[in-house]
Amino acid sequence: MKKTYLVTGGAGFIGSNLVHWLLDSSPDAQVIVLDKLTYAGHLESLEPASRNPRYEFVRGDIGDRTEVESLFRRIEPDVVFNLAAESHVDRSIEGPAAFVQTNIVGTFVMLDVALHWSRGREKPPTFVHVSTDEVYGSLGAEGRFTEESQYQPNSPYAASKAGADHLARAYFHTYGLPVVTTNCSNNYGPYQFPEKLIPLVTLNAIESKPLPVYGDGLNVRDWLFVRDHCEALHLVAERGEPGETYNIGGNEERTTLDMVRGICRVLDESGPKRTTPHHELIRHVDDRPGHDRRYAIDASKITETLGWRPKTSFDDGLEQTVRWYVENREWCERVAKGVYERERLGLARGEK
Ligand SMILES: NC(=O)c1ccc[n+]([C@@H]2O[C@H](COP(=O)([O-])OP(=O)(O)OC[C@H]3O[C@@H](n4cnc5c(N)ncnc54)[C@H](O)[C@@H]3O)[C@@H](O)[C@H]2O)c1
Repeated sequence: MKKTYLVTGGAGFIGSNLVHWLLDSSPDAQVIVLDKLTYAGHLESLEPASRNPRYEFVRGDIGDRTEVESLFRRIEPDVVFNLAAESHVDRSIEGPAAFVQTNIVGTFVMLDVALHWSRGREKPPTFVHVSTDEVYGSLGAEGRFTEESQYQPNSPYAASKAGADHLARAYFHTYGLPVVTTNCSNNYGPYQFPEKLIPLVTLNAIESKPLPVYGDGLNVRDWLFVRDHCEALHLVAERGEPGETYNIGGNEERTTLDMVRGICRVLDESGPKRTTPHHELIRHVDDRPGHDRRYAIDASKITETLGWRPKTSFDDGLEQTVRWYVENREWCERVAKGVYERERLGLARGEK
């Protein structure tokens, strides 16, 4: 069946990868992006889709009810993928207000418009609310987050995502809107804004600049290649059970130091030549305030119920990703120009 997908935050990292995924994998689908184009959103990331007649870009804010209502009336979405968000933990430490506004209030507006627009229609849109494993807080050396884990968000970013997840849940339980929530681990891949670990370290390394590692570098994250995440989101939209939540992870736990050394290894083998190995550029810097020690995802529910599992091995995914940043330095320079100079963010100085 020909479907219309609305992707909020489609000019961001995961959103742009999702748009390319949907256009490539669903030959009849219409894909409409709603994005405010904050510092993290870039039309350059959607350039490969720009001449596709099945794609449309709309600049707008998910918190603007009038705008969202008129978009729903015009495009009549079958599926809403809600990815628009403020997404950087360090920025949430410096200025949490935008996180509350977009992540909580914006998600509320999207849910409420979806509900009211669908009343009287044959079928309400499936609302896929995209969230993070960070809502569950921090783990010790053992254990993994399941869908039943308690919410214990520790950063303003995680708290704002948790608030949105609760609203998404309530719109299913109270009003019957077919909402499915996903909680995913750290993504990596092309089109990620250079403030995040992998692009930042890659770009600094090829310019022989210091590679900053927070604290002792032994914080653990689970890593998932972004295209595997997009495949999971598409599957959840098609076959996920309304009202359910699905954890999505790569089953690839790495410390920050492992990750940075992995990037250095790829560059030693195939990047610009240096006289000394890239890992000699590593510098430990002050830790992030309240830095969660370990996240790990148990993704067995989505594997058992929907048959999804990640296809990309960590080594392959990392190599593809590092190469992409080396080959797309112009994209990195264009998106960061005037808004980010790879400076340190998030040392808890309070709201700006
Ligand atoms: N990146 C990860 O590793 C990861 C992991 C799990 C979950 N998530 C979640 O996935 C989603 C996408 O993450 P990302 O890394 O692609 O983020 P991103 O920061 O790269 O992109 C966010 C996009 O949202 C847009 N946006 C921000 N505020 C908006 C508003 N008010 N209205 C409309 N658009 C707005 C931005 O312009 C940008 O294009 C987020 O909801 C995030 O919480 C991300």
